[in-house]
Amino acid sequence: RHQRGFCVWFTGFSGAGKSTIAEILAVLLMERGREATLLDGDVVRTHLSKGLGFSKDHRDTNILRIGFVASEIVRHHGVAVCAAVSLYRATRDAVRRVVGEDRFIEVFVDTPIQVCEQRDTKGMYAKARRGEVKGFTGIDDPYEPPLDPELRLTTTDCLPDDTAVRLVRYLIERGFLLDECDERNYQADW
Ligand code: ADX
Repeated sequence: RHQRGFCVWFTGFSGAGKSTIAEILAVLLMERGREATLLDGDVVRTHLSKGLGFSKDHRDTNILRIGFVASEIVRHHGVAVCAAVSLYRATRDAVRRVVGEDRFIEVFVDTPIQVCEQRDTKGMYAKARRGEVKGFTGIDDPYEPPLDPELRLTTTDCLPDDTAVRLVRYLIERGFLLDECDERNYQADW
């Protein structure tokens, strides 16, 4: 199973820490010989989803596009690490079905909205409060938290590096990655 493709899908509010953890995870995966393709909502919106806004329709299109690319990567035995707000449960579930239930790891980055707003790394929450941005997730637009994610992460009590290491451990437990000991035996066998 360690050579099969899989998709790690981060969901959570803007500023929850999805991209930060995803980037560290991609590095840790590379160190373990698995090249990951990072599909970050903010980045995807500058090319593949350029021109899309934040209506339900457009957000769904954005997420389904990311999901489609992820499913192709996984089908070809690759690793897709996706980080997008992805606020609608039904849309995330649709992506899960496209990628394949047994290869989809939904990770809920459960940072409270108050903390995200306080961090406000991009100044978007301030804009939303001033009414300059309408329909901002968590302010005047809902967020549907996962009911049964594969993993739920908190970010107020641990560092992103530790969180990413926890994720790697989870992937080893699930058999998506070899642990270092198995890896040495595997290489010795060859
Ligand atoms: S999604 O809604 O389509 O899943 P995605 O992750 O691609 O979201 O983009 C969210 C990012 O766009 C946020 O991090 C934020 O910086 C920016 N953004 C701009 N307008 C909004 C909005 N109305 N709601 C949420 N995020 C917004």
